[in-house]
Amino acid sequence: MDIALLVLHSLLRWILLIALLSSIIMSFRGWKNSRSFTPFDALSRKVATIFAHLQLLVGIMLYITGNTLTYLLNDFKSAMSNGETRFFSMEHSTLMILAVAFITIGTIRSKRKKSDTDRHRSIALWFCLGLLIILIAIPWPFSPLANRPFLRGF
Ligand code: HEM
Repeated sequence: MDIALLVLHSLLRWILLIALLSSIIMSFRGWKNSRSFTPFDALSRKVATIFAHLQLLVGIMLYITGNTLTYLLNDFKSAMSNGETRFFSMEHSTLMILAVAFITIGTIRSKRKKSDTDRHRSIALWFCLGLLIILIAIPWPFSPLANRPFLRGF
């Protein structure tokens, strides 16, 4: 496994969480206060979406270049009976792809909306759904599914 990719994947998780959370807070406030949709809201939406896609890309690269795919293709049965391998090859990857899909849907829908309140609402709801799935699928040190450090160094 490429350690640089793993370090990047671990770090990007925090940047993505911060970007998503700030965009969600801003859009919930905008929605509830019927505030206009500013260029800063659009920038925040863009930054969160870019980091979600970047993390997805690095995740897919890790999946292909690391041991996960090799193990899966060589011995599917034994890979499925190993909790950690199953988590990364199935649950983690599928849930994260779903989360990024929800974030992307939120972005597209908010761009298509005519009113500013609807724009805020699309981001607030879809990004929240994406964030929830990401929080569940991250291998936190305390997760019952698989454990990885809060931050990884070289
Ligand atoms: C987009 C949101 C995602 C987040 C927030 C995320 C987060 C993480 C975190 C925190 C780790 C642990 C890193 C470490 O070991 O220090 C990890 C590992 C990993 N992730 Fe993701 N990930 C995401 C998406 C994906 C996707 C879409 C895939 C594959 C299609 C993927 C594949 C992997 C693999 C293969 C590992 C390494 C497993 C191992 O250590 O054996 N990730 N991910």
